[in-house]
Amino acid sequence: MIVAVDGPTASGKGTIARALGAHFGLPVLDTGLLYRAVGYQTQLDHGDPDDADDALAACDFPDSLFDDPALRYESTGSLASRVSIHPAVRRALFQRQVDFANQPGGAVLDGRDIGTVIAPHADAKLFVTATPEERARRRHAEMLGRGVGVTYDAVLADIYARDARDTGRVDAPLRRAADALLLDNTALDRDAGIAAAIAFVEGKVGKRG
Ligand code: DC
Repeated sequence: MIVAVDGPTASGKGTIARALGAHFGLPVLDTGLLYRAVGYQTQLDHGDPDDADDALAACDFPDSLFDDPALRYESTGSLASRVSIHPAVRRALFQRQVDFANQPGGAVLDGRDIGTVIAPHADAKLFVTATPEERARRRHAEMLGRGVGVTYDAVLADIYARDARDTGRVDAPLRRAADALLLDNTALDRDAGIAAAIAFVEGKVGKRG
C-alpha cells in the first residue's frame, strides 16, 4: 500500500505521515529532507540556490548530510523551497522517491507532489492543511520551545513566502490531487488529525496493521 501525504509547510503533514507509518507498519520518507539536503549542500558549496546549475551540482550530497541538525533549521527550509523550483533538481531526486514508494510492501511519503507526480497511483492520498495563521502559531510555539528567538510575524511572513513559492512554481507545484482527501486540521488537535487520517486510509484500503 502506498500512502501519499502532501501539504504546505507547517501543516502537520509530517506528524500525520509518521503516525500512518507507525499504524500501518510502513516505512516513511520525508521527501522535504531531500530538498533540504540539496539546499544546504548548495550553501556549503558557496553556490546560489536560485541558480539551476549550482543547485543541480548539490544533488550529489552525501547521505551523511541527513544526520546534520542544520537540515531542520527554518533557514534550510527556505533554501529547500528555492532549489526545489528547478526542474533539473526535481528530476535528479525523482527516481529515489519513486523507488521508495514502490518498494515491496509499500510506503508512506510526505511532501508537496507525492499524490500528483511521485505516486499518482497511490492507494490513499491526503492533502493536509491549516490556515497560515494557525500554522504560524504552531510553528512559532514549537520554535520558542526549542529556544529559537523569533517573532510570530516573522514566522507568518516566512509561511506566506514558502506557500507562494511552493504553489507558484511551474514544475510540480503544490496542489491537491483530485482524488486526495482534504484534511484541514486548523481546528483539530494532533490526535484528532491523526485519527482522521487513519480512518480515511482504512476506509480506502480496508483495515490493516
Ligand atoms: O516539507 P519541508 O518543509 O521540509 O520542505 C522543504 C521545501 O522543499 C518545500 O518548501 C518545497 C520543497 N519540497 C518540494 O518541492 N517537494 C517535495 N515533495 C517536498 C519538499
